[in-house]
Amino acid sequence: MKQISILLVDDSYDMLEVLRRQLTALQYATFQASEVGDAIDILQNSDVDLLITDIRMPGRDGMQLVKYVKANFPDIPVLVITGFPSVSGAVEAVKSGAMDYLSKPFTAKELKSAVEKTLRQRYGHSAIPGKKQETGSETQYFHGIIGQSAETQALIDLIQRVKDTKVTTLVEGESGTGKELVARAIHYSGRYQHGPFVAVNCGAIPENLLESELFGFVKGAFTGADATRPGFFQSAEGGTIFLDEIGNASPAVQTRLLRVIQEKEVKMIGANQTQKVDVRIIAATNSDLHALSKSGKFREDLYYRLHVIAIRTPPLRERREDIPLLLHHFLDKFAEEFDRPRPTVSEDAMQLLQQHSWPGNIRELENIAQRALILSDGHIHLKHFPAYLRQTDLSQEETAEEGLLPLEEVERRHIQKVLDAVGGNKSKAARILGINRKTLRMKLQKYQSEEEG
Ligand SMILES: Nc1ncnc2c1ncn2[C@@H]1O[C@H](COP(=O)(O)OP(=O)(O)OP(=O)(O)O)[C@@H](O)[C@H]1O
Ligand SMILES: [Mg+2]
Repeated sequence: MKQISILLVDDSYDMLEVLRRQLTALQYATFQASEVGDAIDILQNSDVDLLITDIRMPGRDGMQLVKYVKANFPDIPVLVITGFPSVSGAVEAVKSGAMDYLSKPFTAKELKSAVEKTLRQRYGHSAIPGKKQETGSETQYFHGIIGQSAETQALIDLIQRVKDTKVTTLVEGESGTGKELVARAIHYSGRYQHGPFVAVNCGAIPENLLESELFGFVKGAFTGADATRPGFFQSAEGGTIFLDEIGNASPAVQTRLLRVIQEKEVKMIGANQTQKVDVRIIAATNSDLHALSKSGKFREDLYYRLHVIAIRTPPLRERREDIPLLLHHFLDKFAEEFDRPRPTVSEDAMQLLQQHSWPGNIRELENIAQRALILSDGHIHLKHFPAYLRQTDLSQEETAEEGLLPLEEVERRHIQKVLDAVGGNKSKAARILGINRKTLRMKLQKYQSEEEG
């Protein structure tokens, strides 16, 4: 990752020197300017990631610089330093686009945390020098799991509690919420980490093959079984088997699984003998396994065996705080992969991501990040997001507005929308609206006479 460069602007050389020393010690690159004109010159000709400026300066003051940056370099975050006893100047600066302020005098620690907070908000966690190497203090990264929300922290906490146990664990969550990532984190952080991690997608293997794939078979067990072959369970010996999409396992497989869990042994298809296995089982599902067990589609006893420990991966819409961090993580990853500079993200683009409902969860965000990085030129704006993202969110805004409209107005707008969608064909529109043509005609006449009257 490239070094973060910070432009420091203050009319006091002493202050500039103090800032420079403290920030250099924190592994930042710095530029210094003692007046606004020089600062603008540097902004135009260098690559600045963060601006820290004093507000009260002779000549053009810091407020003007804040406004200039907001207008011309909207992607550069700004931190202002205020010397006033009151915070009114700082408030004004924040209104004009500064992200945060520091009031004089401040300690090195306060400077560090203000800088880090500002950088993290704009560029994500990885922009902060030395952060990735730090261990223990903050658990924003845990075996690839990223997030600072309470939900993600709780998830990481639970993983740490189960990682060294052997108990069967069920990971439940919507598609794209990181179920496999959680399973891998449990394995690679826990005491089975030196054994194999074997992932089996129970939904992707044809039902009639799954049983023999999982447990293996002996020669002659069925036509075509011309040699004895071990299954996934045997290959996971001493490690973890990850049974993804467990809801798709057939009744026969379910019965055998129950046996493995209870007796810690597997029986190959066609074998008379069982073999002991030492394997930790982690299962995952994005369907409601409890409901499936209630309706008889999944063995209830197996369900209870599997979810001795249940881990739920929360959908992204329940942990929106993680969006900036995740976005920057994916952008960094793809920037490195495609050999591009780390991009910046405009404020309205970030806002749109915050509003989206994320049906595809983190995988959807990953795809959007990749696409935006490829399409953009170092600066990501709204237009680099797929149309559906911009549209859904517009229509959601509309809905919010319409919640405040009279019912009649909502109906009228909806009718117009349907008519537009079918090119004005009234028969089609009436069918979609579930009313007869005559009713539609009457309503349209009413709207027309209201408009004319
Ligand atoms: N907290 C997270 N931090 C970083 N990356 C994540 C996080 N959660 C998920 N991902 C990434 O999102 C993608 C989807 O995650 P994963 O495949 O684990 O989801 P899943 O729940 O198994 O989805 P599906 O039900 O569709 O199989 C992966 O690329 C994964 O690395
Ligand atoms: Mg998965």
